Amino acid sequence: MKSYNFDEIIARENTDCVKYDIRKLFFGTEDVIPMWVADMDFRTPDFIINAIKDRLQHEILGYTFRGKDFNRAIIDWMKKRHNWSVNKNWVSFSPGVVPAVNMLVLSLTLPGDKIIVQPPVYFPFFSAIEKNDRIIIENPLKLENGRLNMDFDDLITKAKDAKMMIISHPHNPGGSVWTKQELTKMAEICIENDVIMVSDEIHSDLIFPEQKHIPLAMLGNDIANQTITCNAPSKTFNLAGLATSYLIIPNKNYLEKYNETLNDKLHINMGNIFGAIALQSAYANGEEWLDKLLDYVWKNIEFVEDFCKKHIPQIKVIKPESTYMIWLDCRDMAMNGDELKDFFIKKARLGFNDGRTFGTGGEGFMRINVACPKATVKQAMDQLRDALKSL
Ligand SMILES: Cc1ncc(COP(=O)(O)O)c(C=O)c1O
Repeated sequence: MKSYNFDEIIARENTDCVKYDIRKLFFGTEDVIPMWVADMDFRTPDFIINAIKDRLQHEILGYTFRGKDFNRAIIDWMKKRHNWSVNKNWVSFSPGVVPAVNMLVLSLTLPGDKIIVQPPVYFPFFSAIEKNDRIIIENPLKLENGRLNMDFDDLITKAKDAKMMIISHPHNPGGSVWTKQELTKMAEICIENDVIMVSDEIHSDLIFPEQKHIPLAMLGNDIANQTITCNAPSKTFNLAGLATSYLIIPNKNYLEKYNETLNDKLHINMGNIFGAIALQSAYANGEEWLDKLLDYVWKNIEFVEDFCKKHIPQIKVIKPESTYMIWLDCRDMAMNGDELKDFFIKKARLGFNDGRTFGTGGEGFMRINVACPKATVKQAMDQLRDALKSL
Protein backbone atom coordinates (compact mmCIF):
# COMPACT_ATOMS: atom_id res chain seq x y z
CA MET A 1 0.00 0.00 0.00
CA LYS A 2 1.31 3.37 -0.96
CA SER A 3 1.47 6.17 1.57
CA TYR A 4 0.59 9.76 0.76
CA ASN A 5 1.74 12.74 2.75
CA PHE A 6 -1.25 15.00 3.24
CA ASP A 7 0.66 16.88 5.95
CA GLU A 8 3.02 18.45 3.45
CA ILE A 9 2.64 22.21 3.17
CA ILE A 10 2.95 23.18 -0.48
CA ALA A 11 3.35 26.87 -1.30
CA ARG A 12 0.65 27.82 -3.79
CA GLU A 13 1.33 31.55 -3.95
CA ASN A 14 2.26 33.02 -7.33
CA THR A 15 0.75 30.17 -9.33
CA ASP A 16 -2.27 32.30 -10.34
CA CYS A 17 -4.36 30.09 -8.07
CA VAL A 18 -7.69 31.54 -7.06
CA LYS A 19 -7.52 30.53 -3.40
CA TYR A 20 -4.25 32.31 -2.60
CA ASP A 21 -3.52 34.75 -5.38
CA ILE A 22 -6.77 36.73 -5.35
CA ARG A 23 -6.98 37.13 -1.60
CA LYS A 24 -6.42 40.87 -1.87
CA LEU A 25 -9.28 41.22 -4.32
CA PHE A 26 -11.64 38.96 -2.38
CA PHE A 27 -10.83 39.80 1.24
CA GLY A 28 -9.17 43.20 0.82
CA THR A 29 -5.92 41.85 2.27
CA GLU A 30 -3.39 39.10 1.68
CA ASP A 31 -3.05 38.59 5.40
CA VAL A 32 -5.61 35.81 5.77
CA ILE A 33 -5.25 32.02 5.80
CA PRO A 34 -7.31 31.19 2.71
CA MET A 35 -9.88 28.50 3.50
CA TRP A 36 -12.58 29.45 1.08
CA VAL A 37 -12.87 28.40 -2.58
CA ALA A 38 -13.51 24.65 -2.97
CA ASP A 39 -10.19 23.20 -3.97
CA MET A 40 -7.60 21.37 -1.91
CA ASP A 41 -4.10 22.32 -0.77
CA PHE A 42 -3.02 18.72 -1.38
CA ARG A 43 -0.98 17.54 -4.31
CA THR A 44 -3.03 16.15 -7.18
CA PRO A 45 -2.31 12.39 -6.95
CA ASP A 46 0.81 11.05 -8.69
CA PHE A 47 -1.04 8.61 -10.96
CA ILE A 48 -2.89 11.54 -12.54
CA ILE A 49 0.19 13.72 -12.90
CA ASN A 50 2.05 10.77 -14.47
CA ALA A 51 -0.74 10.09 -16.94
CA ILE A 52 -0.57 13.71 -18.08
CA LYS A 53 3.22 13.54 -18.33
CA ASP A 54 2.97 10.38 -20.42
CA ARG A 55 0.65 12.09 -22.88
CA LEU A 56 3.06 15.00 -23.11
CA GLN A 57 5.73 12.67 -24.46
CA HIS A 58 3.87 12.73 -27.77
CA GLU A 59 4.40 16.50 -28.09
CA ILE A 60 1.49 17.18 -30.43
CA LEU A 61 -1.50 18.75 -28.74
CA GLY A 62 -3.85 19.21 -31.68
CA TYR A 63 -7.64 18.86 -31.83
CA THR A 64 -8.59 15.82 -29.82
CA PHE A 65 -11.91 14.23 -29.00
CA ARG A 66 -12.88 12.24 -25.95
CA GLY A 67 -12.60 8.61 -26.94
CA LYS A 68 -14.70 5.73 -25.68
CA ASP A 69 -12.38 5.37 -22.66
CA PHE A 70 -13.82 8.60 -21.28
CA ASN A 71 -17.38 7.30 -20.98
CA ARG A 72 -16.13 3.88 -19.92
CA ALA A 73 -14.17 5.41 -17.02
CA ILE A 74 -17.29 7.25 -15.82
CA ILE A 75 -19.49 4.16 -16.15
CA ASP A 76 -16.99 2.00 -14.24
CA TRP A 77 -16.57 4.59 -11.47
CA MET A 78 -20.32 5.00 -10.99
CA LYS A 79 -20.69 1.24 -10.74
CA LYS A 80 -17.85 0.57 -8.32
CA ARG A 81 -18.28 3.64 -6.13
CA HIS A 82 -22.07 4.09 -6.16
CA ASN A 83 -23.44 0.86 -7.61
CA TRP A 84 -25.18 2.83 -10.36
CA SER A 85 -25.41 1.27 -13.83
CA VAL A 86 -25.00 4.11 -16.28
CA ASN A 87 -25.61 3.61 -20.00
CA LYS A 88 -22.89 5.03 -22.26
CA ASN A 89 -25.48 6.84 -24.37
CA TRP A 90 -26.56 8.94 -21.39
CA VAL A 91 -23.22 10.69 -20.93
CA SER A 92 -22.45 14.20 -22.12
CA PHE A 93 -19.73 16.72 -21.42
CA SER A 94 -19.31 20.17 -19.93
CA PRO A 95 -16.22 22.25 -19.14
CA GLY A 96 -17.62 22.63 -15.61
CA VAL A 97 -20.64 21.81 -13.51
CA VAL A 98 -21.55 25.49 -13.24
CA PRO A 99 -21.52 25.89 -17.03
CA ALA A 100 -23.56 22.65 -17.20
CA VAL A 101 -26.21 24.03 -14.86
CA ASN A 102 -26.38 27.24 -16.92
CA MET A 103 -26.66 25.31 -20.18
CA LEU A 104 -29.42 23.13 -18.72
CA VAL A 105 -31.37 26.20 -17.68
CA LEU A 106 -30.99 27.59 -21.19
CA SER A 107 -31.81 24.31 -22.93
CA LEU A 108 -34.76 23.07 -20.89
CA THR A 109 -36.54 26.19 -19.64
CA LEU A 110 -37.74 29.50 -21.07
CA PRO A 111 -37.27 33.08 -19.89
CA GLY A 112 -39.73 33.77 -17.08
CA ASP A 113 -39.85 30.11 -15.97
CA LYS A 114 -39.63 29.41 -12.25
CA ILE A 115 -36.76 27.34 -10.90
CA ILE A 116 -36.53 26.02 -7.34
CA VAL A 117 -33.35 26.13 -5.23
CA GLN A 118 -32.78 25.24 -1.60
CA PRO A 119 -30.85 27.95 0.21
CA PRO A 120 -28.48 28.26 1.91
CA VAL A 121 -26.84 26.73 -1.17
CA TYR A 122 -23.93 26.98 -3.59
CA PHE A 123 -24.48 30.51 -4.92
CA PRO A 124 -23.82 30.02 -8.68
CA PHE A 125 -27.23 28.31 -8.78
CA PHE A 126 -28.81 31.71 -8.18
CA SER A 127 -27.00 33.40 -11.03
CA ALA A 128 -27.68 30.48 -13.40
CA ILE A 129 -31.36 31.30 -12.93
CA GLU A 130 -31.34 35.08 -12.63
CA LYS A 131 -28.74 35.93 -15.26
CA ASN A 132 -30.65 33.82 -17.76
CA ASP A 133 -33.88 35.71 -17.01
CA ARG A 134 -35.60 32.90 -15.15
CA ILE A 135 -37.17 33.33 -11.69
CA ILE A 136 -35.73 31.95 -8.44
CA ILE A 137 -38.17 30.13 -6.20
CA GLU A 138 -36.73 29.42 -2.77
CA ASN A 139 -37.47 26.23 -0.86
CA PRO A 140 -35.23 27.00 2.13
CA LEU A 141 -33.61 24.20 4.08
CA LYS A 142 -34.33 23.96 7.80
CA LEU A 143 -31.54 23.61 10.34
CA GLU A 144 -32.76 20.96 12.77
CA ASN A 145 -30.59 19.20 15.37
CA GLY A 146 -27.37 20.17 13.64
CA ARG A 147 -28.42 19.10 10.13
CA LEU A 148 -29.86 20.97 7.17
CA ASN A 149 -33.09 19.22 6.16
CA MET A 150 -35.50 19.66 3.25
CA ASP A 151 -38.89 21.25 3.86
CA PHE A 152 -41.33 19.10 1.90
CA ASP A 153 -44.51 20.95 2.90
CA ASP A 154 -43.04 24.09 1.43
CA LEU A 155 -41.79 22.21 -1.64
CA ILE A 156 -45.31 20.92 -2.38
CA THR A 157 -46.53 24.51 -2.64
CA LYS A 158 -43.52 25.81 -4.55
CA ALA A 159 -43.41 22.95 -7.08
CA LYS A 160 -46.90 23.75 -8.38
CA ASP A 161 -45.78 26.24 -10.96
CA ALA A 162 -42.04 25.53 -11.21
CA LYS A 163 -40.32 24.12 -14.27
CA MET A 164 -37.03 22.94 -12.77
CA MET A 165 -35.38 22.29 -9.42
CA ILE A 166 -31.63 22.42 -8.85
CA ILE A 167 -30.21 20.59 -5.85
CA SER A 168 -26.76 20.14 -4.40
CA HIS A 169 -26.49 16.43 -3.58
CA PRO A 170 -24.64 16.15 -1.28
CA HIS A 171 -25.27 19.62 -0.04
CA ASN A 172 -22.81 22.48 -0.14
CA PRO A 173 -22.43 24.27 2.29
CA GLY A 174 -24.27 22.12 4.87
CA GLY A 175 -22.80 18.72 4.01
CA SER A 176 -26.11 16.82 4.17
CA VAL A 177 -26.06 13.57 2.20
CA TRP A 178 -29.66 13.30 1.04
CA THR A 179 -31.13 9.93 2.02
CA LYS A 180 -33.20 7.57 -0.08
CA GLN A 181 -36.33 8.67 1.79
CA GLU A 182 -35.61 12.36 1.27
CA LEU A 183 -34.76 11.94 -2.41
CA THR A 184 -37.80 9.78 -3.07
CA LYS A 185 -40.13 12.25 -1.39
CA MET A 186 -38.61 15.18 -3.25
CA ALA A 187 -38.75 13.32 -6.58
CA GLU A 188 -42.40 12.34 -6.04
CA ILE A 189 -43.31 15.98 -5.63
CA CYS A 190 -41.29 16.97 -8.70
CA ILE A 191 -42.72 14.23 -10.87
CA GLU A 192 -46.27 15.05 -9.85
CA ASN A 193 -45.69 18.64 -10.90
CA ASP A 194 -43.56 18.03 -14.01
CA VAL A 195 -40.52 19.66 -12.49
CA ILE A 196 -37.20 18.68 -14.09
CA MET A 197 -34.61 17.77 -11.44
CA VAL A 198 -31.00 18.87 -11.85
CA SER A 199 -28.88 17.02 -9.32
CA ASP A 200 -25.43 18.51 -8.85
CA GLU A 201 -23.47 15.54 -7.46
CA ILE A 202 -19.98 17.03 -7.73
CA HIS A 203 -19.28 16.28 -4.03
CA SER A 204 -20.64 12.74 -4.17
CA ASP A 205 -17.29 10.99 -3.77
CA LEU A 206 -16.47 12.93 -0.60
CA ILE A 207 -18.63 10.90 1.75
CA PHE A 208 -17.80 10.32 5.41
CA PRO A 209 -18.22 7.34 7.77
CA GLU A 210 -21.67 5.82 8.04
CA GLN A 211 -22.93 7.78 5.05
CA LYS A 212 -23.82 6.56 1.60
CA HIS A 213 -24.33 8.60 -1.53
CA ILE A 214 -27.35 7.52 -3.55
CA PRO A 215 -27.42 9.03 -7.04
CA LEU A 216 -30.89 10.53 -7.43
CA ALA A 217 -31.37 9.02 -10.89
CA MET A 218 -30.75 5.54 -9.49
CA LEU A 219 -34.06 5.54 -7.69
CA GLY A 220 -36.24 4.25 -10.51
CA ASN A 221 -37.02 4.83 -14.18
CA ASP A 222 -39.54 7.61 -13.62
CA ILE A 223 -37.03 9.55 -11.57
CA ALA A 224 -34.16 8.88 -13.99
CA ASN A 225 -36.32 10.10 -16.85
CA GLN A 226 -36.79 13.47 -15.16
CA THR A 227 -33.31 13.85 -13.66
CA ILE A 228 -30.09 15.27 -15.01
CA THR A 229 -27.02 14.45 -12.97
CA CYS A 230 -23.98 16.73 -13.08
CA ASN A 231 -20.68 15.40 -11.83
CA ALA A 232 -16.88 15.68 -12.20
CA PRO A 233 -13.67 14.31 -10.74
CA SER A 234 -12.54 17.86 -10.00
CA LYS A 235 -13.46 18.16 -6.31
CA THR A 236 -12.49 14.56 -5.51
CA PHE A 237 -9.02 14.64 -7.07
CA ASN A 238 -8.23 18.36 -7.09
CA LEU A 239 -8.51 18.90 -10.84
CA ALA A 240 -10.67 22.03 -11.06
CA GLY A 241 -8.11 23.79 -13.27
CA LEU A 242 -8.61 21.17 -15.98
CA ALA A 243 -12.21 22.23 -16.62
CA THR A 244 -13.64 18.75 -17.26
CA SER A 245 -17.00 17.56 -16.02
CA TYR A 246 -19.88 15.51 -17.34
CA LEU A 247 -23.62 15.01 -17.27
CA ILE A 248 -25.71 11.86 -17.15
CA ILE A 249 -29.02 12.36 -18.96
CA PRO A 250 -31.16 9.24 -19.43
CA ASN A 251 -34.01 11.20 -21.04
CA LYS A 252 -33.25 11.30 -24.78
CA ASN A 253 -35.20 14.46 -25.41
CA TYR A 254 -33.36 16.37 -22.66
CA LEU A 255 -30.05 14.97 -23.83
CA GLU A 256 -30.64 16.17 -27.39
CA LYS A 257 -31.63 19.62 -26.23
CA TYR A 258 -28.60 19.90 -23.97
CA ASN A 259 -26.25 18.63 -26.68
CA GLU A 260 -27.65 21.12 -29.14
CA THR A 261 -26.66 23.95 -26.79
CA LEU A 262 -23.24 22.43 -26.05
CA ASN A 263 -22.37 21.44 -29.63
CA ASP A 264 -24.23 23.76 -31.96
CA LYS A 265 -25.09 26.92 -30.09
CA LEU A 266 -21.93 27.35 -28.01
CA HIS A 267 -19.42 25.00 -29.63
CA ILE A 268 -17.73 24.16 -26.35
CA ASN A 269 -17.84 20.41 -26.62
CA MET A 270 -14.15 20.01 -27.44
CA GLY A 271 -12.81 20.14 -23.87
CA ASN A 272 -9.11 19.62 -23.35
CA ILE A 273 -6.79 16.68 -23.73
CA PHE A 274 -5.47 16.75 -20.19
CA GLY A 275 -8.89 16.92 -18.59
CA ALA A 276 -9.96 13.71 -20.30
CA ILE A 277 -6.71 11.94 -19.43
CA ALA A 278 -6.92 13.07 -15.82
CA LEU A 279 -10.52 11.88 -15.48
CA GLN A 280 -9.67 8.47 -16.94
CA SER A 281 -6.66 8.03 -14.69
CA ALA A 282 -8.49 9.28 -11.59
CA TYR A 283 -11.41 6.93 -12.05
CA ALA A 284 -9.24 3.95 -12.98
CA ASN A 285 -6.68 4.32 -10.18
CA GLY A 286 -8.12 6.64 -7.56
CA GLU A 287 -9.94 4.53 -5.01
CA GLU A 288 -7.11 3.89 -2.58
CA TRP A 289 -5.91 7.49 -2.66
CA LEU A 290 -9.46 8.74 -2.17
CA ASP A 291 -10.07 6.54 0.86
CA LYS A 292 -6.89 7.93 2.45
CA LEU A 293 -7.87 11.48 1.61
CA LEU A 294 -11.28 10.97 3.22
CA ASP A 295 -9.65 9.66 6.41
CA TYR A 296 -7.42 12.69 6.58
CA VAL A 297 -10.15 15.24 5.92
CA TRP A 298 -12.48 13.55 8.40
CA LYS A 299 -9.80 13.94 11.10
CA ASN A 300 -9.57 17.64 10.27
CA ILE A 301 -13.33 17.94 10.65
CA GLU A 302 -13.25 16.17 14.02
CA PHE A 303 -10.40 18.40 15.09
CA VAL A 304 -12.42 21.55 14.30
CA GLU A 305 -15.46 20.15 16.10
CA ASP A 306 -13.46 19.26 19.24
CA PHE A 307 -11.59 22.54 19.19
CA CYS A 308 -14.78 24.58 18.99
CA LYS A 309 -16.42 22.58 21.78
CA LYS A 310 -13.41 23.10 24.04
CA HIS A 311 -12.24 26.60 23.19
CA ILE A 312 -14.87 28.41 21.12
CA PRO A 313 -18.28 27.34 22.40
CA GLN A 314 -19.85 30.40 20.72
CA ILE A 315 -19.28 28.67 17.38
CA LYS A 316 -21.25 25.50 16.64
CA VAL A 317 -20.02 23.07 14.04
CA ILE A 318 -22.65 21.69 11.67
CA LYS A 319 -20.86 18.40 11.26
CA PRO A 320 -20.79 17.54 7.55
CA GLU A 321 -21.83 14.12 6.30
CA SER A 322 -19.85 14.87 3.15
CA THR A 323 -17.68 17.53 1.41
CA TYR A 324 -14.55 19.12 2.85
CA MET A 325 -16.51 22.18 3.93
CA ILE A 326 -17.76 22.91 7.41
CA TRP A 327 -20.74 25.19 7.97
CA LEU A 328 -20.08 27.11 11.15
CA ASP A 329 -22.99 28.47 13.12
CA CYS A 330 -21.67 31.75 14.55
CA ARG A 331 -25.00 33.23 15.59
CA ASP A 332 -24.10 33.08 19.30
CA MET A 333 -21.29 35.54 18.61
CA ALA A 334 -24.09 38.12 18.41
CA MET A 335 -22.63 40.04 15.49
CA ASN A 336 -24.47 41.19 12.40
CA GLY A 337 -23.30 39.99 8.98
CA ASP A 338 -20.86 42.84 8.35
CA GLU A 339 -19.40 42.65 11.85
CA LEU A 340 -18.90 38.91 11.54
CA LYS A 341 -17.19 39.25 8.16
CA ASP A 342 -14.90 41.99 9.51
CA PHE A 343 -14.10 39.97 12.59
CA PHE A 344 -12.99 36.93 10.60
CA ILE A 345 -10.90 38.88 8.11
CA LYS A 346 -9.46 41.67 10.22
CA LYS A 347 -9.26 40.24 13.73
CA ALA A 348 -8.85 36.49 13.14
CA ARG A 349 -7.06 36.92 9.79
CA LEU A 350 -9.02 34.07 8.26
CA GLY A 351 -10.35 33.86 4.72
CA PHE A 352 -13.59 31.87 5.08
CA ASN A 353 -16.76 32.22 2.98
CA ASP A 354 -19.35 34.63 4.30
CA GLY A 355 -22.54 32.63 4.93
CA ARG A 356 -24.68 35.40 3.45
CA THR A 357 -23.46 34.61 -0.07
CA PHE A 358 -25.31 31.27 0.13
CA GLY A 359 -28.62 33.13 0.40
CA THR A 360 -31.53 32.75 2.82
CA GLY A 361 -30.43 31.09 6.06
CA GLY A 362 -26.78 32.05 5.58
CA GLU A 363 -26.61 35.11 7.83
CA GLY A 364 -24.61 34.39 11.00
CA PHE A 365 -22.77 31.46 9.38
CA MET A 366 -19.31 31.04 7.87
CA ARG A 367 -18.01 28.23 5.65
CA ILE A 368 -14.52 26.85 6.17
CA ASN A 369 -12.64 24.57 3.76
CA VAL A 370 -10.53 21.99 5.63
CA ALA A 371 -8.98 20.23 2.63
CA CYS A 372 -5.55 21.31 3.73
CA PRO A 373 -2.77 20.07 6.04
CA LYS A 374 -3.75 19.67 9.67
CA ALA A 375 -1.15 22.30 10.64
CA THR A 376 -3.06 24.89 8.61
CA VAL A 377 -6.36 23.97 10.27
CA LYS A 378 -4.72 24.13 13.69
CA GLN A 379 -3.19 27.52 12.97
CA ALA A 380 -6.58 28.81 11.80
CA MET A 381 -8.33 27.57 14.94
CA ASP A 382 -5.64 29.12 17.18
CA GLN A 383 -6.05 32.45 15.42
CA LEU A 384 -9.82 32.24 15.84
CA ARG A 385 -9.62 31.44 19.56
CA ASP A 386 -7.10 34.25 20.18
CA ALA A 387 -9.14 36.78 18.21
CA LEU A 388 -12.23 35.92 20.24
CA LYS A 389 -10.32 36.26 23.50
CA SER A 390 -9.14 39.72 22.52
CA LEU A 391 -12.69 41.04 22.01
C1 LIG B 1 -22.14 22.20 -5.46
C2 LIG B 1 -21.08 22.64 -6.42
N1 LIG B 1 -21.28 22.59 -7.74
C3 LIG B 1 -20.35 22.97 -8.64
C4 LIG B 1 -19.12 23.45 -8.22
C5 LIG B 1 -18.10 23.91 -9.20
O1 LIG B 1 -18.18 23.23 -10.38
P1 LIG B 1 -17.25 23.54 -11.62
O2 LIG B 1 -15.94 24.05 -11.13
O3 LIG B 1 -17.14 22.23 -12.30
O4 LIG B 1 -18.00 24.55 -12.44
C6 LIG B 1 -18.86 23.53 -6.85
C7 LIG B 1 -17.58 24.08 -6.38
O5 LIG B 1 -17.44 24.48 -5.27
C8 LIG B 1 -19.85 23.12 -5.93
O6 LIG B 1 -19.63 23.16 -4.62
